[in-house]
Amino acid sequence: MSLDKKYIDQFINVTSKAAIASFHLVGKKDKIAADQAAVDTMRTELNKIDMTGEIVIGEGSLDEAPMLFTGEILGRKNGPKFDIAVDPLEGTNFAANNLPGALSVIAVAEKGNLLKAPETYMHKIATAKVEKGLIDLDYPIKKNIENLAEFKNTTPSNLTACILDRPRHKKIIEDLLKLKVKIKLITDGDVAGALLVTKPIYNVDIFLGIGGGPEGVLAAAALDAYDCHFQGKFIFDNEKDINDAKIMGIDDLNKKYEIKEIIKGDTIFCASAITDTMAMKGVIPEDNDYYITETLIAHKLTMNNNLSIEKRRMLFDYPKN
Ligand code: FBP
Repeated sequence: MSLDKKYIDQFINVTSKAAIASFHLVGKKDKIAADQAAVDTMRTELNKIDMTGEIVIGEGSLDEAPMLFTGEILGRKNGPKFDIAVDPLEGTNFAANNLPGALSVIAVAEKGNLLKAPETYMHKIATAKVEKGLIDLDYPIKKNIENLAEFKNTTPSNLTACILDRPRHKKIIEDLLKLKVKIKLITDGDVAGALLVTKPIYNVDIFLGIGGGPEGVLAAAALDAYDCHFQGKFIFDNEKDINDAKIMGIDDLNKKYEIKEIIKGDTIFCASAITDTMAMKGVIPEDNDYYITETLIAHKLTMNNNLSIEKRRMLFDYPKN
């Protein structure tokens, strides 16, 4: 059975309720509590859906995450089999400090169609759709930037690159500055960072650098719907990660993943804003335990070549107890 339209509202409900749960802890300086609230609620809501859903990207393995752990089966276990990637609270620092950028995110595909990613860092690169071979994770920064500028019929100085503000990116940032590229440094939240290449209004031409692998897979799920370019390469730099990768069946530790190797077939991606982000308002409290949420939704149905991308504003009843 395909991942048809009737599931959209159900997954919007999942990320929206998780966003509302987390919203109650926004600004409380406690990122663990804000994350836990989103995790618990997401799990409760996922368990109400008629599906057999396996978490392929979650909060870690069973021994480190009692809920939404990789391999956990959720849903009423009476419906179609789905693979599910979740980040109940993406941007824990944003939520803890009441800053823009916190999201609750889910990506769903039919069984076997979503990459089971290890909990390691990932080299990532993303742009809007480009010719094959034009932008590549293995090229030097200079070549990617010059190729992109030529493709866009402009100069590097008119391009903007988004990258996480981390010491590990010092060299990339220096290279970009030498090329006179404008830089958009983000302190956290590289799912949203990568998605800024999807539309000219965000004014980002290329996203690059190292961030979380799970976040890379989630971003790829949305970028696929937008027909964007994305490549990712996991970083395995310690014994534990290398062993975990082997258990997951990853033989080539240096493999560069193209978007179609990360996500295939029908997909639903939902990202609900907890605080303001990506031109969406964060959770808005109304009277009597009602809340408004805004969610970015991408739904890809391969059968009819059907694609819908929209932002939806919805009202939810969410009693505190
Ligand atoms: P959390 O929501 O788990 O705090 O992750 C935020 C984040 O910025 C991700 O978006 C990003 O992929 C990752 O952390 C980067 O990790 P690090 O902070 O270790 O550089």
